[in-house]
Amino acid sequence: MIEVKNIKKSFGDKVVIEDVSCVMKAGQCNLIIGSSGSGKTVLQKCMVGLFEPDQGEILYGGQNFTAMKGTEKTEIRKEIGMLFQGSALFDSLNVQENVMFPLNMFTKDSFKKKLERVNEVLARVSLADDVNKKYPSELSGGMKKRVALARAIVLNPKYLFCDEPNSGLDPQTSLVIDRLIQEITKEFNMTTVVNTHDMNSVMEIGNYILYMYKGNKEWEGNNREIIFSKNQRLNDFIFASEFLQDAKDMRMLEETGKIPNHRNMEEMLRKDAPSMGTSSDTPPTN
Ligand SMILES: Nc1ncnc2c1ncn2[C@@H]1O[C@H](COP(=O)(O)OP(=O)(O)OP(=O)(O)O)[C@@H](O)[C@H]1O
Ligand SMILES: [Mg+2]
Repeated sequence: MIEVKNIKKSFGDKVVIEDVSCVMKAGQCNLIIGSSGSGKTVLQKCMVGLFEPDQGEILYGGQNFTAMKGTEKTEIRKEIGMLFQGSALFDSLNVQENVMFPLNMFTKDSFKKKLERVNEVLARVSLADDVNKKYPSELSGGMKKRVALARAIVLNPKYLFCDEPNSGLDPQTSLVIDRLIQEITKEFNMTTVVNTHDMNSVMEIGNYILYMYKGNKEWEGNNREIIFSKNQRLNDFIFASEFLQDAKDMRMLEETGKIPNHRNMEEMLRKDAPSMGTSSDTPPTN
């Protein structure tokens, strides 16, 4: 579990995180959503200690990470895996070297042992042995994310942070990566924090969702509660298109028998339904 308590962060005069508190639970995917510039990456970087918050505390398993210094802080850092926005693989290192990097930094294991672990995590993210010697430029976007995920989990972290793990991927590949993150989270009982704009991710893996709006926590809940939320900013963000508004209203109608807004779904369905009897598929009448 990670507790975020009253975190504030500014750059110069610009307040980027105003006052955010939340609890990221173990064994589940905790999502941070919000439009571009709302502070998702800065909040995640405060959580892992890459940025020092101006105020507030981050607690890992009840221990005050913000107040820690030196080796004590390093011990917690070793338990944190991070998949950066844009994968951030080292271009000049091949896949094997990229994934081995954290092992070289934090362990004194033999090369043989490290290679075994590298191959184990590459297999876990469904990458075959033939990728080991490939360079990032030779990989597809989905493969790069898998390698970045393998590198993030190679030290067997308790806490996994993923910043936009789906950016630049097609919807199906995104879903595969989301499910992989979810499976790994459950399998190793990790506390996972994912920053995303991706609505499929929200619906698929959003056990806990923190919605950020201009550096503030605007809403929190899960992927079921989001359908029924009356928060206008959240609804405008999640259900931005007319199509998604329709989908939300249909779901409300299914679950509650009514739509709590001015839209009349029955009328819309009648109006939008394809007209019958004019299609060339219509069987001839005798
Ligand atoms: N190192 C920095 N120095 C100054 N300002 C920064 C720095 N990092 C981020 N910011 C500012 O903080 C704000 C929030 O940025 P952040 O990267 O957290 O947004 P985000 O929600 O992750 O956006 P996106 O969805 O585009 O990744 C932005 O206005 C950004 O310009
Ligand atoms: Mg970001």
